[in-house]
Amino acid sequence: AYTAAPFLPDRGDLTALREAAAGCRGCPLHRDATRTVFGAGAADARVMLVGEQPGDQEDRQGKPFVGPAGKLLDRALAEAGIDPGEAYVTNAVKHFKFTRSGARGRRIHKAPGVREMKACGPWLAAELAAVEPELIVVLGATAGKALLGSSFRVTQVRGTVLEEEIHGRPERLVPTVHPSAVLRADDREAAYRGLVADLKIAAQALG
Ligand code: URA
Repeated sequence: AYTAAPFLPDRGDLTALREAAAGCRGCPLHRDATRTVFGAGAADARVMLVGEQPGDQEDRQGKPFVGPAGKLLDRALAEAGIDPGEAYVTNAVKHFKFTRSGARGRRIHKAPGVREMKACGPWLAAELAAVEPELIVVLGATAGKALLGSSFRVTQVRGTVLEEEIHGRPERLVPTVHPSAVLRADDREAAYRGLVADLKIAAQALG
């Protein structure tokens, strides 16, 4: 099975993790992606946001949530009363997975599979251990499945505070939809309001 495990450092802080992740070849996604996009934010952040995988812009810039979905997320967080600058943001999968389309070979996002999610799991576990957030905001189905298993259904648990053991530690989580789903929604305004409402539950849980 694919796994990032051999690429993890024996010890070290987030910086050591980030440096090691840059050379991860734990699954085939590193071949076509430009670079590893590791999590970003303060090591003492109270809240960790977990997305799916870097998109086109993130792959180019090397930082999570800097593209259109990230802009929308920042706006929603601020509206919910969570300072985006005080959150740690990361993804379940740390390389961009895509197919090429059209004459120009535009890169089209492709959802990561279970094998890639599992392979990348050790990085997410290490980030959780290093940051020890008080709350995890789960952005969409991929993050949910990566953290809580394949039975995760975002529609069933969004906007609620879950208490689950993850990698042997008790965690509090608030799942919500992925900001990209808001951008794709027929009724974008309603979808955005839903995201903000869920993030307000997270803000409340943070106290
Ligand atoms: N979507 C994600 O899930 N993560 C990013 O970093 C950007 C878009």
